[in-house]
Amino acid sequence: MAKEYLLGIDLGTSGTKTVLFDTEGAVVASALEEYPMYQPQNGWAEQDPADWWNAAKNTIRTVLEKSGADPAAVRGLGISGQMHGLVMLDENGRVLRRSIIWCDQRTAEECREITEKVGAQRLIAITANPALTGFTASKILWVRNHEPELYARCRHILLPKDYVRYMLTGQFATEVSDASGMQLLDVPNRCWSKEVLEKLEIDESLLAKVYESPEVTGYVTGEAAALTGLAEGTPVVGGAGDNAAAAVGTGVVESGKALTTIGTSGVVFAHSDSVTIDPQGRVHTFCAAVPGCWTVMSCTLAAGLSLKWFRDNFCREEIQAASGMGKDPYVLMDQEAERVPIGANRLVYLPYLMGERSPKLDPECRGVFFGLSAIHTKYDMLRAVMEGVIYSQRECLDILRGMGVVSSEMIACGGGGTSPLWRQMMADVYGLPVKTSASKEGPALGVAILAGVGAGVYASVPEACRRLIRTSAPQEPVPGNHEKYEPFYRTYLSLYPALKEGFQTLAQA
Ligand code: XUL
Repeated sequence: MAKEYLLGIDLGTSGTKTVLFDTEGAVVASALEEYPMYQPQNGWAEQDPADWWNAAKNTIRTVLEKSGADPAAVRGLGISGQMHGLVMLDENGRVLRRSIIWCDQRTAEECREITEKVGAQRLIAITANPALTGFTASKILWVRNHEPELYARCRHILLPKDYVRYMLTGQFATEVSDASGMQLLDVPNRCWSKEVLEKLEIDESLLAKVYESPEVTGYVTGEAAALTGLAEGTPVVGGAGDNAAAAVGTGVVESGKALTTIGTSGVVFAHSDSVTIDPQGRVHTFCAAVPGCWTVMSCTLAAGLSLKWFRDNFCREEIQAASGMGKDPYVLMDQEAERVPIGANRLVYLPYLMGERSPKLDPECRGVFFGLSAIHTKYDMLRAVMEGVIYSQRECLDILRGMGVVSSEMIACGGGGTSPLWRQMMADVYGLPVKTSASKEGPALGVAILAGVGAGVYASVPEACRRLIRTSAPQEPVPGNHEKYEPFYRTYLSLYPALKEGFQTLAQA
């Protein structure tokens, strides 16, 4: 039988990666294109949807050319994307403004407005989350409050990956896992909430049609085919938000399974067969990409972003040396951090560079190095950054543990999951064995699997995962290390409450 393929596009914050897989899940070709994140004010974050579309278009073309695959043999395509970003289009489908993305923190006032209009309890009962600055609804209200003329011209509201779908298929469509992060979806019932939309006076006609993640939502148009090299008529399935997609791509599709992603954001994620909600709203409940299932996950805003910030500002030498050696600077940084003892010579880092979502829900807090001494070097600071990110994930993991949705094993993914040191810290600080997926393409593989289900290549998502996903041997905690980290973790936990008020004062200075 002639070879067949599935295509996965992962629209991340640092760049878009497109991967062509065969139907056994092996990578045939991949391509990455990066783009900037704009921070016009402290705590704001925007990206240009044109950059996303250009990156998708170019990377699709590259993987098809590199692989020499017959485009007609691509059975289906799925898109995974950074969640929550607001894309607004006018009546001609033209982008009205830069997208306000997931880690933007400007909407504290609009969150108060949402809670007041919907009611705190009703909001959690319907959308499974309290009003959050990161989520799309507060961004929509911000544009309505601050840019009313622009809002009046808005005819379509899309999430980042759904904009790329629109450019490929001409369809205004979304799917349950990503729509869950808009704060407009009735999460238990997997449909738009008429009650929330009415109370917030948002016209439902602005929103896209909601599908389940493996359902076909449209077909590649002739125009998009000419631009990308895809065959006209290639089916495009719902796809998934990046975390739900990573879950499919690592086989976290059954109860008890969990993953930690260190990408730009940090996510601890567990599958659940029922709707389980944290009444304090510290972690999120979303629809899973697996029809009929849900997920519980935390999201910290500056996980990989903390290390990227440190690399870009303090590691010029490593960047240069790595480029001379044809290596990734993070590999050199990993080796440097490994030489520093646990606890970074008594230096603790709080990773709140963009404010914090889980579990603090505080747009005003900011990053901290605590305990800085004249003995410290850049290398201590580097290790402290990596440790601080893991402490923040541990704090979230403990909440998920309290909700009874995490078992005794963790899968590490995202760029940070490829670092052996970060994985070891995770195993030691969590006190759990940590595995990785044999495929490094979590979200892209996840949506390629969804495309395979939609195109009839696989019978169901769990069946495809059982067939395709392999995990590594677990990396075990080093005996004694968990105990060594504990006093530093306890210090980490004590710092935010002590600094909370100071963050507020600083924000108003
Ligand atoms: C999840 C979240 C991030 C983004 C970007 O709630 O905001 O994980 O999806 O990765």
